[in-house]
Amino acid sequence: MTNNRTFTMLKPDSIEKGNIGPILEKITASGFRIVAMKLTQLTIPDAQAFYAVHKDRPFFEDLVHYMTSGPIVAAILEKDNAVEDFRTLIGATNPAEAAEGTIRKMFAESISQNAVHGSDSEENASIESAFHFSAREMF
Ligand code: CMP
Repeated sequence: MTNNRTFTMLKPDSIEKGNIGPILEKITASGFRIVAMKLTQLTIPDAQAFYAVHKDRPFFEDLVHYMTSGPIVAAILEKDNAVEDFRTLIGATNPAEAAEGTIRKMFAESISQNAVHGSDSEENASIESAFHFSAREMF
């Protein structure tokens, strides 16, 4: 994993509402290249492992339930300064606090159903990418 990559998931609310296309359009129009991508569904153990850092938070059970409630799109994205620029593009975790024009402001409905995930560090981008993709699935 190079330091110009980040990892994202389009969450079940995005897929349910038919927003895969509009969100990917916004991501690529913002200069990100799709390095790897798949439509998949997390199992409960998958979601518990992916979000293990939040296991003691009061919202953990709801988060796992929600993230396993339907398909997601997992993707690795490439751009200079990818982690920081992608977090700017998606906006605040709570869409009510997200800036105008950000993906969460445009497509998310609540802090739990917030349309997209974006890695919060290069280290986590690498770990999260490896959770979903093998090296030969990255282009
Ligand atoms: P994400 O960026 O995927 O990382 C962890 C997720 O936990 C976060 O997006 C939110 O969807 C969810 N989350 C964070 N804080 C809260 C909260 N206070 N209540 C419910 N869900 C939360």
